[in-house]
Amino acid sequence: MKYQRDMIYFGDIDQLMSDIHLNQYSSIFILCDENTVSACLPFFHQVFGQIEREVIVMGAGESNKNIGTCDHVWKSLLSAGADRHSLLINLGGGVVGDLGGFCASTYMRGIDFMQIPTTLLSQVDASVGGKTGVDFHHYKNLIGTFSQAKATYIDARFLTTLPPREMKNGLVETLKHALIADKELWVELANRQTPDNETLAFIKRSVGIKQNIVQQDPLESGCRKVLNFGHTIGHALEHLALSQKLDIRHGEAVAFGMMAATWLSVWNGALSTESALAIEQVILPYCTVTPTPEQCEEMLHLMKSDKKNKGQEVRFTLLNEIGSAVFDQIVNVSSVKKSILQCIDTVNRYQHPRVE
Ligand SMILES: NC(=O)c1ccc[n+]([C@@H]2O[C@H](COP(=O)([O-])OP(=O)(O)OC[C@H]3O[C@@H](n4cnc5c(N)ncnc54)[C@H](O)[C@@H]3O)[C@@H](O)[C@H]2O)c1
Ligand SMILES: [Zn+2]
Repeated sequence: MKYQRDMIYFGDIDQLMSDIHLNQYSSIFILCDENTVSACLPFFHQVFGQIEREVIVMGAGESNKNIGTCDHVWKSLLSAGADRHSLLINLGGGVVGDLGGFCASTYMRGIDFMQIPTTLLSQVDASVGGKTGVDFHHYKNLIGTFSQAKATYIDARFLTTLPPREMKNGLVETLKHALIADKELWVELANRQTPDNETLAFIKRSVGIKQNIVQQDPLESGCRKVLNFGHTIGHALEHLALSQKLDIRHGEAVAFGMMAATWLSVWNGALSTESALAIEQVILPYCTVTPTPEQCEEMLHLMKSDKKNKGQEVRFTLLNEIGSAVFDQIVNVSSVKKSILQCIDTVNRYQHPRVE
């Protein structure tokens, strides 16, 4: 894939409108989910006017990120007369963006799409980097494409209706970007917890980190893997929770995974204990879901069965120090287990402090 840096407009309405006009689309469609159609579409119309031929609405949440929903989107496009010169605008979180991007990249061998992310997670992460896709049976993002949006429009005003749990969910990825690549951002975030009125500035910096990494390795054959910090254990926890229909957000699982990977970084000899303790203090409030010690074995099994890993070893992205990461680090399964059990204990002690 020929990769060009994503066209991202931070609150620049005129630029997005001019892109849309320049391309002379035959028709424009907007994909929303059942929440963003009421929480975000009115603001979209206020800002951009009613530019669409039709609004397509899908169910909200990860459970709708599947081929059945694509069928609904493709059918809606077809019956409303979408052709090869139509544009699909995805107005929603990472689910709408991933699924809408996938539908657009496959409809009539690919039509243009634009991303208007409305959750913090999708603004700092999912809408950048050209990955689209849907889940298949219990496998996350198994079916998908690398396809770049024609443009991405990021506006922090969409976040005013976002529930606090979703804000925290997105902040985890922002903290991850800082930990792997920007010590200064980490210090600022660690001292403030929520980016409040300077949200857009923080989003811009976070997006910049991801863009720089993706630009060097668009297809994830090398350094893009640093973005997976916290995701090896995080994905195993998320997979387990989702297969048991437990309520878990991606960021909550990744927070737990980041804490465990932080200790693995110490034991592998690179990160100082002092830094690990400082990281732990910041991440702990985001670790709202932990596995049980029994589930630990299942998580290890999931990690070992990943085709990237061999025998008793698992590959991890680890930290050298705050602001610098290395990928493809081989870690022994027994250390992984130790890190998970230690983090379960730390989170339990944090959530239920003992009264002396
Ligand atoms: N493509 C990538 O590179 C990439 C990267 C990270 C995550 N992802 C994907 O992103 C998805 C998670 O994204 P998410 O956390 O945004 O989830 P989401 O899209 O399910 O949104 C979370 C919830 O917030 C609601 N919502 C969205 N915007 C709102 C607003 N402004 N006000 C009120 N409610 C709003 C949604 O309806 C939903 O209920 C996962 O499927 C993950 O795989 C993709
Ligand atoms: Zn993630």
